[in-house]
Order: sequence, then C-alpha cells, then structure tokens
Amino acid sequence: MTKIRIAVQKSGRLNQDSLSILKDCGISIDNGKDQLKATARNFPLEVLYLRNGDIPQYLRDGVVDIAILGENVLVEKGDDISIAEKLNFSKCRVCLAVPKGITYNSVKDFEGKRIATSYPNTVNDYLKSKGVTADLHIINGSVEIAPNIGLADGICDIVSSGSTLFKNNLKEVEVILESEAVLAVSPKISQERKEILEKLQFRIKSVLQARQ
Ligand code: PRP
Ligand code: MG
Repeated sequence: MTKIRIAVQKSGRLNQDSLSILKDCGISIDNGKDQLKATARNFPLEVLYLRNGDIPQYLRDGVVDIAILGENVLVEKGDDISIAEKLNFSKCRVCLAVPKGITYNSVKDFEGKRIATSYPNTVNDYLKSKGVTADLHIINGSVEIAPNIGLADGICDIVSSGSTLFKNNLKEVEVILESEAVLAVSPKISQERKEILEKLQFRIKSVLQARQ
C-alpha cells in the first residue's frame, strides 16, 4: 500500500507539537525512542525524524513528500517549496538585535558592521532591500553570545519568548519576518500521495478549527 512520507523535527522546539497535531488527527505512531523512522498504525504515513535545516533539501529531492517545519527555515533554505497549511504553533520572529547599551537609530546602523547569524540568506535579502551592506558571520547555534565575545556587533536569530536576548544583554531592533510551524509539500509528490495528503489536510483543518 502506498504511504506518504512526512519529515518531522528530530529534537527541538517543533518536535512535540508536530507529533501532537498528528495525534490529534487520530494518527497513532509507534515511536521507538531512538528510531529515526516510524510508521503510523492507522493511516498510510511514514514519519522521518530529521534535523530542521536538512528538511528543505529532502523536500526538494522528493525523499520526503511533506514536512512540518518552521516557516523561517523555508524562507532561509527553501523558498522554492510550497506551504500547504499554516499550523498555528511554534510562533517566533526572525530579528536583528544589538547590545542593550548601544544607541540604535535605523537599519542603516548595520552598514559595515559584523552580524552573527544562522540565517544568512534571510539577513542578506533583508539588508539588500534596505540598501545596507554588512559582514555576516555564520554560526549554527548560541548566536546570542557573539557580541559579548567580540565576534560581532549584532546578531540575527529567532526570538520566541525573548529570554535568550535578555540573558545576553541584547535588544531586538528589527523584525525581519514572523514565522510559525507550517506543513510544506515536496514539488515532486506523486498524484497517488497527493490524494493521501488531501485526506491528512482535511483532518488537520478540522483539528486547527477545533483548537480555535
Ligand atoms: C533558539 C534561537 C534563540 C532562542 C529563542 O535557540 O536560536 O537563541 O531559541 O528563544 P527565546 O526567545 O524563547 O529565548 P535554541 O535554544 O534552540 O538553541 P541553539 O541556538 O543553540 O540552536
Ligand atoms: Mg539559539
């Protein structure tokens, strides 16, 4: 029997809520704790647990048919991939931040400055649209530490509660984009699997409505 393959974040902020929405759709997944692949018992679905940043490429290649991931990851690495549904959880924003003590006037203040980020394409596009050129330092995590250790003048990262910025004496100065978890679809999905996706989407819509 044909199954649809979904990528879900392996660990991190989206993992639990992604599995919850599938559960609320009435789908039971047998989860061997350390298994990276699981199968649903009562729906033609296979779940692959993957690293966030790898998911756009898997969608592009058609290795997975659909995925639950942060819209911010798609903006950064998968702006060619379409969104079937916004899922109304894991809301955050991608922001530029600077040390609290700095006087900040406008985005032009970043001209010629060093910005540490895990979202280089997002920052570049934004700065370009504002006519600003900065020097990007790409790091994969703990970005907020960069200004305190003299590695950068500012940062661009996701902000949710704001507590990481606060703890590192930084202040949010520009919001580049607002993001939430989305259901994304591979451009290579087959017609047969598209039909399964429609069934899943029907359930997701009902769950989202019931949650309102
Ligand atoms: C994420 C993100 C921010 C923080 C935002 O980091 O990179 O640092 O969460 O959340 P907050 O506004 O609620 O504090 P994460 O903790 O996932 O670690 P990482 O950056 O090392 O991957
Ligand atoms: Mg972080």
